[in-house]
Amino acid sequence: MSYAYMTTLCSGDAYLPGVEVLGRSLDASGTQIPKVVLATRDVTESARKRLAALAWQVRPIEPIANPSASNPLFARFGPVFAKLRAWEQTDFDRIVALDADTLVLQNIDDLFARPGFAAAPDFFLPDRFNSGVMVLEPSLEVARKMRDSLAVSGSYDGGDQGFLNEFYPDWYTMPVEHRLPVGYNMANFIYQFLRAHPTLKARLESETKVVHYLVQKPWQARAVLTGGAAAWWQRYFEVHPAANWPGGDALHAAEDWAFEHLAALALE
Ligand code: GLC
Ligand code: MN
Repeated sequence: MSYAYMTTLCSGDAYLPGVEVLGRSLDASGTQIPKVVLATRDVTESARKRLAALAWQVRPIEPIANPSASNPLFARFGPVFAKLRAWEQTDFDRIVALDADTLVLQNIDDLFARPGFAAAPDFFLPDRFNSGVMVLEPSLEVARKMRDSLAVSGSYDGGDQGFLNEFYPDWYTMPVEHRLPVGYNMANFIYQFLRAHPTLKARLESETKVVHYLVQKPWQARAVLTGGAAAWWQRYFEVHPAANWPGGDALHAAEDWAFEHLAALALE
């Protein structure tokens, strides 16, 4: 069986820090499974070289038009349908697709033993899945069906997630092996909040395998007090040692500490 971890760069270099950090976190998890990044042509040559140097196999892909492109509500999801190209990478038997804004905290190679479509619940609508972490089996037949259905079906969130939930509408009632435990795709804000919980904290730490930085990306964060991002910054400084400054890691650790203490007050 041939396996890969796969992510997508489809907004120029905007998510490059995410892919660098995701790759570093995968390496740190001890996996030997290759890392593949699908890159649309707006990704710069220097970004491609940088990722190749970090042991990513860079594959050029064509973008896929977003049918909701004209709706300004969904502007930030413009290019995300490129992710569907993962189903076309048929030289792999199974792929674990990870968003560029995810961070692996523990080895997740066990996901390759899951059936060809598996995903974890979404926090906003828990009977739908979140498309940031998916186990999939590439198939040109499935890819073609997706493209056909993209022409007619909608997407309730204007992105790949809303579309894929229309494509796999029975995910919630599929046999249990298709539904990943929530720790394989833990929303950053739940992660942040539960770490302040006196009894859930220990379980959260052992069960969280992947954190997904929804909405606010650590490398784009404007607010200082984000919380839950220290683990991401630790990996970032490993791939960009020159970007760290004395006390840089300590500052992010202090942010998490402060966030957790504020949240703990709210929980009292
Ligand atoms: C959610 C998913 C992300 C997807 C986006 C648009 O943010 O986590 O993977 O691209 O929705 O559907
Ligand atoms: Mn994401």
